[in-house]
Amino acid sequence: MPKTPFHCEAIRLQFPSLNGAEKNKQPVYLDSAATTQKPTAVIECLHHYYSSAHANVHRGTHDFSQSSTLRFDAARQRIAQFLNAPEEGIIWTRGATEGINLIAQSYALNTLKKGDEILISEMEHHANLVPWQLVAKQTGAKIIKWPMIPKIAELDMPALDRLINKNTKILAVAHISNVTGTRHPVEKIIEKAHQKGVVVVLDGAQAVLHESVNLKKLNADFYVFSGHKIFGPEGIGVLYVNPKHLPSMPPWQGGGKIIEKVRFSETTFLSSALKFEPGTPNISGAIALACAIEWLESIDRDGAEKHIASLQAQFIQGISDIDGIQIFGLQKGASVVAFGIEGVHHSDLATLLDKQGIALRSGQHCAQPFIEGLGISGCLRVSIALYNTHDDILRCILAIKKACELL
Ligand code: ALA
Repeated sequence: MPKTPFHCEAIRLQFPSLNGAEKNKQPVYLDSAATTQKPTAVIECLHHYYSSAHANVHRGTHDFSQSSTLRFDAARQRIAQFLNAPEEGIIWTRGATEGINLIAQSYALNTLKKGDEILISEMEHHANLVPWQLVAKQTGAKIIKWPMIPKIAELDMPALDRLINKNTKILAVAHISNVTGTRHPVEKIIEKAHQKGVVVVLDGAQAVLHESVNLKKLNADFYVFSGHKIFGPEGIGVLYVNPKHLPSMPPWQGGGKIIEKVRFSETTFLSSALKFEPGTPNISGAIALACAIEWLESIDRDGAEKHIASLQAQFIQGISDIDGIQIFGLQKGASVVAFGIEGVHHSDLATLLDKQGIALRSGQHCAQPFIEGLGISGCLRVSIALYNTHDDILRCILAIKKACELL
């Protein structure tokens, strides 16, 4: 069905949290890389789920359970379709962080041995570093840093050929950085890694919102994302595992619904990806995430991304004449800008902006090695979503200028 061309004001009206106050007092929310606001469609979906046939799934023969199960199973199909990935590789998690921990504590723990290497980019969120450190300790594997080029906040691609060696078993990298919005050349990275038999884990937390991900084409071994960063609720996320890896992945948590047979002496487990979903799943979260994706795919995504890029350009232009302004690793056309002002502490500036109704993130953005690699102690980050307007950006620029006068 042809989509209505993107129109920001019409989209924004669908976000109640952004529309409560008078127009010039509305919140300026520029922290969508941390979490997105929720459209009415998702809020109503959750309301409808709990106001209608809500019951546990895959357990009851009664009508309520059948109805919940149908919707829950349809949600998994919807995610598979969204990622263009086989449904048998889709696993519900609490979010991207849990997805990476699952890979580390199942796949990595059972395949790595002493001396093996896990190659991790310097530009990772802690979620794509700390789980690997834990499993490295458990197995005797080594963490190897894939450095970036700080000036441009891009990974040193030529270094990749040198860094991958016969000991390299896993390469973990973000699809898009949460700090600078750098989109890594993941197609090339996967190709190079696979040529040398290295398994690739992609953290898609910041990517799924901004581009159509086609996992069949991309051919990543593992891919994770969080629902709350793509208009869905918190506490639900997705891990995609290429089904060929499932046999080398035992369950990492025990419980009901993942078993074939339980005896006091021993338990045998399902071989499918369902072996990673013990206990009652986050049924409402899964259904609402599928609804968020349905909503996102119903709009003109290319138009939305053009709009976001135009807001980013407006922001960069607007702050360019501020004395001492620094932009870290600028990625033109991205949805985020990491910046600071010489001589001004990022948290002081963020506090003064908050007092003027501007919500953005400051600090180290859960990426301390990356921030240190940039040679700074922290920075501010504006992160833009499709519901932001040119007026939001203007108000943010004026607020930064006013804060600078006060500081
Ligand atoms: N990962 C989130 C961020 O970048 C929380 O802000």
